[in-house]
Amino acid sequence: MTKEVTKAIFPVAGMGTRFLPATKSVPKEIMTLVDRPLIQYAIDEARAAGIKEFIFVTSRGKGALEDYFDHAPQLEQELKKKNKNKLLEVLETTNMESGAIAYIRQHKALGLGHAVWCARRLIADEPFAVILPDDVIAAEKPCLQQMVEAYAETGGNMVAAMEVAPEQTSSYGVLDICEETDPLVKVQGMIEKPDAEDAPSNLAVIGRYILSPSVLENLNHIQSGSGGEIQLTDAIARDIELADNVYGYRFRGQRFDCGSKSGFLQATVAFGLARPELRDDLMGYLQSVTQTDV
Ligand code: G1P
Repeated sequence: MTKEVTKAIFPVAGMGTRFLPATKSVPKEIMTLVDRPLIQYAIDEARAAGIKEFIFVTSRGKGALEDYFDHAPQLEQELKKKNKNKLLEVLETTNMESGAIAYIRQHKALGLGHAVWCARRLIADEPFAVILPDDVIAAEKPCLQQMVEAYAETGGNMVAAMEVAPEQTSSYGVLDICEETDPLVKVQGMIEKPDAEDAPSNLAVIGRYILSPSVLENLNHIQSGSGGEIQLTDAIARDIELADNVYGYRFRGQRFDCGSKSGFLQATVAFGLARPELRDDLMGYLQSVTQTDV
């Protein structure tokens, strides 16, 4: 029997420089797809997967995230007075049970592995999920839920996996696979951001992980790797040597790279089109601009 996964880490310490000047005063994770911040998509996905404790690894300037998940009594009272029940319901999705959310600061930008390691005392000896909010995944069954179900059978460590163009491997953790029983792949090696000629495959890690606490122990010993940073990929790869229990999971769904402007815009269009009240208007506009030269 595998232990239930009830804790998730959200690394949100990055400065979001690709979105300057917006990110000068707004955390990247608060930027909205239609009307919901990126972080809300991540939280909803975690809840759907059964996560009960939410651990944010933050940095200076991320206070807006804490406010976002706080109750807003004045606003709620105003809406109640005006009988705006639909809006009150919308606000409810941003409320967290007391004590369900924790914030830890990553004092130095030493990489994703280091960010996850900063949360080690809150994880202790349990499996845990990691969600990178930049990777937004539209799916009928939310991606982490798909993974939690598969993990109940495999245990060990599991990373979301997706094929990318061979020339893009240098932007991802890449899997070296030895066995495949779709949607699961058994992993025999992982490399962070290899050049195309060094990549063992074009199966890339996407920002959803279910990890065993041994990865946190590995992080105690990991030296800085790709880009001079302490890489989560390297700490997971160490578990292949120690326990041979790392799996990739080819999730069903469409992933948007909201860490890039183009990916963010694509996600905005996709999530806009998915909203019945916006669809016709937006579709009409898209058709009009694709018929004429912009
Ligand atoms: C991180 C991980 C990388 C993974 C990617 C997915 O990289 O280090 O292994 O493939 O997320 O989005 P980053 O995009 O933060 O550089």
